[in-house]
Amino acid sequence: MAIRKIINYGHPYLRVKSQKVEKIDDEIRKLIEDMIETMIDAEGIGLAAPQVAQTISLLVINTDHIEEGAEPEAFINPVIYDDEGESSMEEGCLSIPDIREDVKRPETIKIKYTDIDGLEHDEQMSGMLARVMQHEVDHLNGVLFIDKISPMKRRLLSKKLKNIASGSN
Ligand code: NI
Repeated sequence: MAIRKIINYGHPYLRVKSQKVEKIDDEIRKLIEDMIETMIDAEGIGLAAPQVAQTISLLVINTDHIEEGAEPEAFINPVIYDDEGESSMEEGCLSIPDIREDVKRPETIKIKYTDIDGLEHDEQMSGMLARVMQHEVDHLNGVLFIDKISPMKRRLLSKKLKNIASGSN
């Protein structure tokens, strides 16, 4: 396993729509291992492949933060196809250091994904897991949590964001 470099806000790969994973081969399994190690090292709850400069539809979640003792999990080609309710929660992002803001999102989601063994799943998620999943799936579509805060709040953050984008945060 190896720790990969996490790219920051301002990097063009964070704005790209990710490609579907066609085959779960050794390269993908290695990337998943590396992403899990990178996420744990950075003390993150989730990490999407574009954040380590791989624009493919893959994310990992440190479910240990959500349910004690659970193993980190990989979600391949995840698609959220339904949602319900609304909740507000403070979010941060490993690619946008030192910024945390309240974000409104659906409370419950329905999602289809493939696991590391190639098995397909169709699940309902709510609470913290649904929250982290929506943040990470956004990354696969080139969307960041700061896109979902009010324009006024974003204006207040513009200097900080500029500093992050210029690498001087
Ligand atoms: Ni993020």
